[in-house]
Amino acid sequence: MPHQPNPANVNSIKIVIVGAGSVGVTTAYALLLDGLAADLVLIDIDKNRAQGEVMDLSHAAHFAQARVRVGDYEDCANATAVVITAGVNQKPGQTRLDLVKTNYALFKDVVPRIAHHAPDTILVVATNPVDVLTHAAHHLSGFPLERVIGSGTAMDTTRFRHELGKHFGVNPRNVHAIIVGEHGDSQLPVWSLATISGMRLRDYCEAAPGVEYDESALDACARRTKEAAYEIIQRKGKTNYGVASVLVSILQPIVTNSDAIMTVSRVGTYGGVENVALSMPCKLNRHGAYQDVPLLLGQSEQEALRRSALSIKEVLTSLEG
Ligand code: LAC
Repeated sequence: MPHQPNPANVNSIKIVIVGAGSVGVTTAYALLLDGLAADLVLIDIDKNRAQGEVMDLSHAAHFAQARVRVGDYEDCANATAVVITAGVNQKPGQTRLDLVKTNYALFKDVVPRIAHHAPDTILVVATNPVDVLTHAAHHLSGFPLERVIGSGTAMDTTRFRHELGKHFGVNPRNVHAIIVGEHGDSQLPVWSLATISGMRLRDYCEAAPGVEYDESALDACARRTKEAAYEIIQRKGKTNYGVASVLVSILQPIVTNSDAIMTVSRVGTYGGVENVALSMPCKLNRHGAYQDVPLLLGQSEQEALRRSALSIKEVLTSLEG
């Protein structure tokens, strides 16, 4: 069960969501159900639509100990966290990196305004391409690394555990497997550390009756993980529920100060490539993504991570060009 916040603690929690699109409002709804914040603020350029969403959400807030309202950037003051979901999202056939120019331009406007009113808050970036925009948010806000967190491959890790759980017939909570690197096409499944109830996959297959270690089936799990968003967008035009729950799972350890380890995107050095944002396991608490968690990668995994870092670096260079 996710760690439930102490109601007394929640009363002082304000969370701001910039962007009242489907990810933003689904995140607001998930936060209401989770009871994680007493004060939820939605900011959007389309105030009329934001007001409509808030009116609807308020009827859900009726069942939660929280209030939800439309705000503006000055309402970011004293927010525990500001979640940025604003921007265009992928259309069928588009990659996340295709969105960079439009969304970077939006970030150049939005991030300084948030930082001005909430210089001590934690930024949680969901807008894609999330790794590039996490890097941009760090530099545009001037915040320390740990206070600029991208949802990154926390989404892919969730999907990866879901796929492996389905394959092995176990609850995803009993699967410990992570995706690191880019939240995108160059993401990296860390097979060498994947376990089920603490047993490496090969050992589990040897010990569990009737379970065989089928490398092609496992590769298919990783492929479905990487391609999930494309398929969902092809079918329904967007993704929102999975990423909203992932955003709430990132906010939980921040609000409850509970040191959860998650694969989130943060600016650093990856595979020897400096000043780029990618996802690796980090410890999260009220200070943000405040500590690296050591990850023993094999040689081929290190090389794949470096390739992932170089592909993001290339996009960053094109932006700054
Ligand atoms: C997805 C979006 C959040 O993967 O990138 O669903």
